[in-house]
Parts: sequence; structure tokens; C-alpha cells
Amino acid sequence: MNKTLWNARTAVHLKSDFYDNNTFLNGRNTLSEPEMNNLGDVSGKSIIHLQCHFGQDSLSLARMGAHVTGIDISDAAITKAQEMNEQLKLSASFICCNVMDTLAHVRDTFDIVFVTYGATCWLPDLKPWAHTVSELLKPGGFLYYCEFHPTFYMIDDTKKRIGFPYFNTGVQVESNDSSYTDGDAVLGLKEYFWNHSLSEIISPLLSEGLSLESIMEYDYSPYNCFENMVEVQKGRYALDINGVRPPHLLEFKARKKGIDYIK
Ligand SMILES: C[S@@+](CC[C@H](N)C(=O)[O-])C[C@H]1O[C@@H](n2cnc3c(N)ncnc32)[C@H](O)[C@@H]1O
Repeated sequence: MNKTLWNARTAVHLKSDFYDNNTFLNGRNTLSEPEMNNLGDVSGKSIIHLQCHFGQDSLSLARMGAHVTGIDISDAAITKAQEMNEQLKLSASFICCNVMDTLAHVRDTFDIVFVTYGATCWLPDLKPWAHTVSELLKPGGFLYYCEFHPTFYMIDDTKKRIGFPYFNTGVQVESNDSSYTDGDAVLGLKEYFWNHSLSEIISPLLSEGLSLESIMEYDYSPYNCFENMVEVQKGRYALDINGVRPPHLLEFKARKKGIDYIK
């Protein structure tokens, strides 16, 4: 069902002002403030981008000199990513698969595993995910993770109140008539997602032997993708619930042990 949803969303997103694909094709870098500030120099690095959607961020990383592989479950998104890679004469590669099956499709290991905004909420269990991340990393390489904060995922669709549990109590199902972009398309589909608490995200990575190197929380989102958000500074959007600002983003780096240290 989520694959069907993301295939339908891809068509809507490609036409949306939110993703503004024309300016991207004309050179706009789609990475946002946290990644630009904290990912580090990616030139010459090998990066696997998990849940890359139709590849804007993957191809932005490729334009910055990284050797990028993107994976996503949506065949519509991967087909578009491959098409744009050729159009832009870049050398990223894209694979359509469930992120949980990545190791069956990808033999290489990478300097950086890149996971951002709206990714892990689609996965029921982060233990096999953490194992996949660890297996994909070269010794000394790191996971860069920047996602909506676990407490932000508790806020319901009206964006005015708490509607979902903090802890993973099982699958949450929502009717999804449209998307988070500005398209008016009525999708009429359901989405199935899972909330993951902070310990549920970090602990499996530690169990895999990765070490937490840095962690940040932000009270804004670089995306104006939820109802009632206000631009509090240029490019920073925030939402208050009853006059209180919840944490919006969780960002961290988790490193695989190794003799070589990949900056
Ligand atoms: C909000 S988008 C991620 C956008 C991403 N931050 C980017 O760089 O554009 C979520 C993506 O996760 C993908 N996805 C959802 N469940 C997945 C799964 N089990 N395996 C692989 N991709 C999945 C969807 O197809 C969609 O493209």
C-alpha cells in the first residue's frame, strides 16, 4: 500500500511548487540547512541514500562530487531519478527495492549512509534497518540521519494537537486524500506508518557497534510541509501547539568503528 501511495505521490510531487523540479534541473541544490552545515565535505565520498524518493537530494549530492547510490521502494520515483541522472549527465545509480532488502541488491560498502526527512516512519522495525545501515558502511564510515523529531511525529494532521503515540505501539493508518506538497490531487489512498521513539532509533545502531558522534535537535523544519507552519526565519518553518514550540528535527551522526576515519 505504501508503494502504491508513493508511486501516486511521485506524480503529484513532480508537478508541485514544493519540489520545484525545474529550478532543481537548472542547478538548485535541494539539501537543506542542517545537511549543508553538518554533513561535511562529500566530494569524492561514496554515499548510499536510503529512501531517496525521485532523487533530488541524491543528485544534489552527486553534483557536489559524491559517488551516489539511491534506493527507494517506488518504481515511479526511481524511474524519474534515473531519467534525471541521464538528463543532468551525472553518474549516480538508482535501485528500486524495499530498504529492508537493500543488502540483497547492493554489494558495495559506503563512506556515508544518508537518511533524511520522512524516511524511518515508513519502517515497522528499526533493528533490521540498523543492521542494514551497519552492513552498508565501510569501517570508519558514518550514518548521517536528519529526520522529523520523534515528538513531532506525535502531532496529528490538523497540526494542532497530539494525535499519535510517542512509542511504537504498532502500525498507524491514515487516509491520505492529498500529499504534503501543494498539489490539489486527490489520491484517496491510505498510508501505513510507525512512530519510533528516540531510544528505538539510537539503541539498535549502538547494538550494531556504531557509536553516536554528534546529536542535535532543532525547533524548526526546513520544509513548509505541514499545516499552520510559520516562516520564523528565512527558510525555517515552525509550528506551535498551544503556544509551545515542540522539537521539529532530530539530527545525528553514528560512526562504524574502523582504523580509517572518514571525515
Ligand atoms: C518523504 S520521502 C523521502 C524524501 C527524502 N527525504 C528525499 O531525499 O527526497 C519518503 C520515501 O520513502 C520511500 N519508502 C517508503 N517506504 C519504503 C521502504 N520500505 N523501502 C524503501 N523506500 C521506502 C517512499 O517511496 C518515498 O520515496
